[in-house]
Amino acid sequence: MKQMQTLTQAAHTQAAHTQGHGQAHEKASETGAPKDGAAPRTRKVFVKTYGCQMNVYDSERMSDALFKDGYQKTDNPEDADLLLLNTCHIREKAAEKVYSELGRIRQLKEALAEQGRELMVGVAGCVAQAEGQEIIRRAPIVDVVIGPQTYHRLPQAIARARLGEKVVDTDYAVEDKFEHLPKADKKTISSRGVSAFLTVQEGCDKFCTFCVVPYTRGSEVSRSVQQIEREAQSLVDAGVREITLLGQNVNAWHGHGADGREWGLGELLRLLCGIDGLERLRYTTSHPRDMDEALIDAHRDLDKVMPYLHLPVQAGSDRVLKAMNRRHTAQDYLRLIERIRAARPDIALSGDFIVGFPGETDADFEETIQLVEKVRYAQAFSFKYSPRPGTPGADRDDHVPEDIKAKRLERLQKLLRQHQVEFAENCIGKTIDLLLEKPGREPGQLIGRSPWLQPVIVDAKPSQIGDIIKVRITRTGTNSLYADCV
Ligand code: SAH
Ligand code: SF4
Ligand code: F3S
Repeated sequence: MKQMQTLTQAAHTQAAHTQGHGQAHEKASETGAPKDGAAPRTRKVFVKTYGCQMNVYDSERMSDALFKDGYQKTDNPEDADLLLLNTCHIREKAAEKVYSELGRIRQLKEALAEQGRELMVGVAGCVAQAEGQEIIRRAPIVDVVIGPQTYHRLPQAIARARLGEKVVDTDYAVEDKFEHLPKADKKTISSRGVSAFLTVQEGCDKFCTFCVVPYTRGSEVSRSVQQIEREAQSLVDAGVREITLLGQNVNAWHGHGADGREWGLGELLRLLCGIDGLERLRYTTSHPRDMDEALIDAHRDLDKVMPYLHLPVQAGSDRVLKAMNRRHTAQDYLRLIERIRAARPDIALSGDFIVGFPGETDADFEETIQLVEKVRYAQAFSFKYSPRPGTPGADRDDHVPEDIKAKRLERLQKLLRQHQVEFAENCIGKTIDLLLEKPGREPGQLIGRSPWLQPVIVDAKPSQIGDIIKVRITRTGTNSLYADCV
């Protein structure tokens, strides 16, 4: 079915924009109980993930829960009994994509119904949380709407929907979701690769005036040291070599330790470095206000903590930063960068930018350009401001015209791209450690990640996936580097 091609293709590209970890979809099948002596059939789930890495992690957890319920995954939406969209609400485009996808899914659902097959449709994630019942009103083919805080109840919600109920479950759960989620088995973890995500913190109390996250993900919650350590160990036992700790505000993590104290992220990294077989640690996304001394020290002292930091600043003008409620100035940010670079001179910095926040003038935008010139990011993401219903920014009456936003974005992206290329070119001739992650496009090639998170292509054998090898960077590609083994 032609319309479904879009569904599968897009699944590989839309999630995890900030790190390019590509496991953007998870699929699963269920061994349904035989009805009146009919042969048991295996139910299958297709999961498509939009948005940030946390959604990738959540999709994996929802899949794990469904696998325990008997489902298997499928890569083919036409073969699915359950189609799950894990959605993102961050910008209008992201949210609208979900509805166009649901339009295509309606056709598939109808076509399958003609063949006597039932397709359940679930919407999870941040659009589910933000819009709830409204999703079913706009797209009546949806059977289940489930929020990020309640997805451990997904199997029950699907079971209810199979009996004909439309289920909307977006309450904030009182129970600990993580305690209720089944653990993935070794085989499933291994199938996901040698680099894994681990959510340590969820939600946000910062309320930047442009952002929906505090509303869709709720207030800040940190998982305990013990829970995190246990999950990290089980990932490593299954062959994972690199873990990226996730949180909407990961460096605000302050989890309970077994010693009764509250720990900080720097301390947590130190502990995780002690796990044998775990070779690399990363974390994302950080807020400048929560970048404390212990975390900066971790970058100086711990070899396993990779020299890469995603530290969004959003804008370079103090007036705009104040209007955004970022609670730091451009100067605070630059001073912080200086301290981080003093601790770890080779660190690759990454960031996020919003252009055209309401009231942003040409002069304000110039300050963003100046900040970028000063920092020289190894990589960065930039967006046109998108007014989000319910956020204070959306209610302002001084919105910047779209054409001006577009012009500013183009200029900013050109500069960011230039710095990214310079950073990559500076790597030529360097000998680095490369964690081999997956086969490359050409036979005989593998792709790995440099310490600075760049994809690196090298000639190596598939049996080497999971190894960390020494390579010499020889040249740059469009978005990757090429290297020779040394
Ligand atoms: N927790 C992260 C941000 C998560 S959202 C942090 O605090 O940095 C990822 C990025 O999307 C943000 O950094 C911001 O640059 C962008 N973003 C968020 N809301 C937006 C909006 N309304 N319009 C455009 N970009 C937005
Ligand atoms: Fe959104 Fe700001 Fe919280 Fe980041 S810190 S999630 S941008 S409100
Ligand atoms: Fe999107 Fe929700 Fe992540 S809005 S960016 S999926 S936290």
